Amino acid sequence: MKKVLFITFLFTICNQLSFAQNQTTIISIKNTTDAPIINKNIYGHFAEHLGRSIYGGFFVGDTSKIPNTNGVRNDIIKALKELKIPNLRWPGGCFADTYHWKDGIGPKPERPTIVNKWWGGVTEDNSFGTHDFLNMCELLGAEPYLSGNVGSGTVQELADWVQYTNFSGRSPMSDLRKKNGRTEPWKVKFWGIGNEAWGCGGNMTAEYYAGEYRKFATFMSDWENTGGFTRIASGSNSADYNWTEVLMKNIPLNMLGGVGVHHYAVIDWAKKGDGVDYTEDQYFKTMKEALKMEELVTRHSAVMDKYDPEKKVAIMVDEWGAWYDVEKGTNPGFLYQQNTMRDAVLAGSTLNIFNNHADRVRMANLAQCVNVLQAVILTDKAKMITTPTYYVMKMYNVHQDATLLPVNFQSPLYNFSGETLPAVSASASKDKSGLVHISLVNIDSKNKNKVEIDIKELGVKNFTATILTASKLQDYNSFDTPNKIVPINFKGFENKKGKLEITIPPFSVIVLEGK
Ligand code: AHR
Repeated sequence: MKKVLFITFLFTICNQLSFAQNQTTIISIKNTTDAPIINKNIYGHFAEHLGRSIYGGFFVGDTSKIPNTNGVRNDIIKALKELKIPNLRWPGGCFADTYHWKDGIGPKPERPTIVNKWWGGVTEDNSFGTHDFLNMCELLGAEPYLSGNVGSGTVQELADWVQYTNFSGRSPMSDLRKKNGRTEPWKVKFWGIGNEAWGCGGNMTAEYYAGEYRKFATFMSDWENTGGFTRIASGSNSADYNWTEVLMKNIPLNMLGGVGVHHYAVIDWAKKGDGVDYTEDQYFKTMKEALKMEELVTRHSAVMDKYDPEKKVAIMVDEWGAWYDVEKGTNPGFLYQQNTMRDAVLAGSTLNIFNNHADRVRMANLAQCVNVLQAVILTDKAKMITTPTYYVMKMYNVHQDATLLPVNFQSPLYNFSGETLPAVSASASKDKSGLVHISLVNIDSKNKNKVEIDIKELGVKNFTATILTASKLQDYNSFDTPNKIVPINFKGFENKKGKLEITIPPFSVIVLEGK
């Protein structure tokens, strides 16, 4: 009897495996005009005063031999403009709740120093401050997203920062701004009220923070009623749904533009594993953590629906990405890690989740932009490279501000060591000029997956495609081989009378464009 059961078990397992490898997955795409717009801010970034993000990353100073504009590297400006970076969050992260913005204005030699208590205990000379950041955002064409200090700052301090950056009339703060060389206000729209208030931002309870939020938010006026002034609450740590519930219940909706959520794909906080030298087991676990994002945004959104059924308040996933052990030989407090194809498929799958939840997720910030965690750009003195994650963000920027086309399908499975994950993810959109874009990811480390998409309803006929993949999952772009992983034309699909048949290679990201 035992033998029969075992054979039946083996048969079932083999059947499931062959399903994953041979079956064609049918993806249906709804051509609808009433679906939400994919807010371009989903493709946002994050730059903290951490490690070599600002100093030695973005900012080299205007006396550097590295070509720069007011101290900001020209190669980074060019790369981020090509990415169509929509917004940039600054100055933290944990750093934000230790940052006093008045330390970073006025003549640089006179600025006080502080110790960066969270990140390596290094001395911060405040040479990169409000003017440097906001002028840089203007160069990038990106909306600035300022994180205000609630943990160790005051209500007055944050109210003053808003007046300094946003008020054009006469006032103590706008006069000070003019004295420091900037006549016109920058009109900053996105304001974070603290960061990780449950942790480094002050170890507050949700109830206590909700009260603090109401107080800080009250004194932050949209000085000139320009509209689009968005106050964002420090959100939950991953799956802390109670945090979201308490904020939604206790903060009047007219004071709340967005609620943050932070989620990092970490295998084990005590032993995160190497960024490059990883096993399939570690890969599978990283992807499992990353794909939790689907459940997180679904459940946080469901909590918000109870208080805000019209979805006026957005989810802002203002920190997301992979977090590994720092690269050997680098400062543990600087969070420098390399970026392989694992990071590319992680980014592609996560962005598909955000696109598909565009009704509620209206901003997200990859952590972090330069030289920290899942960076899109790495620098080494005068050298700069773009990572596989950079190319995913670039391939996907076609979805920015396009109308979502809802997708529906049952994903084949990626089997590893008795566990499974959905192997394929997809999202689609139609832009203002009528172009249709479909992004597909196969996370399976060994098996290709076949999909079929009915395109008859989509109003487009001719397709081209781009793929990002590599010969090895662990491959990455180094300073010696900076172009090992770059997007190339993809021909692995056929358009058979209105049906696109596509074979997605293992660990790859594809974006199709239909005209
Ligand atoms: O991104 C690194 C850190 O992660 C941020 O400072 C903090 O907000 C989060 O815990």
